Amino acid sequence: MIKNICKRQYSVLIILSFFSLFIFIDPVFSQTETNMGDTTSSEISTKPEIKPNPDKSSKRNFFQRMLGKSATKPPEDESCWEYSDGLITVDLIKASELSESDGSISLEGKNLPDRILVIRGDDNDYHAFKNSCAHGKRRLDPVPGAGTVQCCSMGKSTYDYHGKRLAGAAKDDIVIYDVKVEDSKLVIVLK
Ligand code: FES
Repeated sequence: MIKNICKRQYSVLIILSFFSLFIFIDPVFSQTETNMGDTTSSEISTKPEIKPNPDKSSKRNFFQRMLGKSATKPPEDESCWEYSDGLITVDLIKASELSESDGSISLEGKNLPDRILVIRGDDNDYHAFKNSCAHGKRRLDPVPGAGTVQCCSMGKSTYDYHGKRLAGAAKDDIVIYDVKVEDSKLVIVLK
């Protein structure tokens, strides 16, 4: 009898420790991400606004979310983009990831001041975001069919294509950037 009670207490203790670890790990991991500055933003879109669905989630399993692993990768062909004087230019012919809606690439390095998430949305337009959740600066992923992007962590902060927070742990909106397409090149304006 006493042995059973001890076993039960032990199990409860393990479960509580596990969730305490998660509560602790989210902000701590987030602090290790790149420190981001503030940038003004707006979006160019000529198509009608789509209705976001904050209930849909990007496909991240529990452990991926615990570790803050985003689904979006850097482009396979890193030569598809360059950064100069506040402008990112993405060659859309080389960036095959953006050839279909809900495709996305993560741009980092090459002296970029911030991480950038570029997606081709459900509206078929291109959108660029500072790739940093307003809650703990983790990376974002598009949510297929929802017209949103979502933090890859357990907090699941979700934002529409205008960067407006819709759901999740974050309290604030995220930064988006102007984009335009010129001769099969996507130009993202950071300044
Ligand atoms: S970092 Fe916590 S919800 Fe995004």
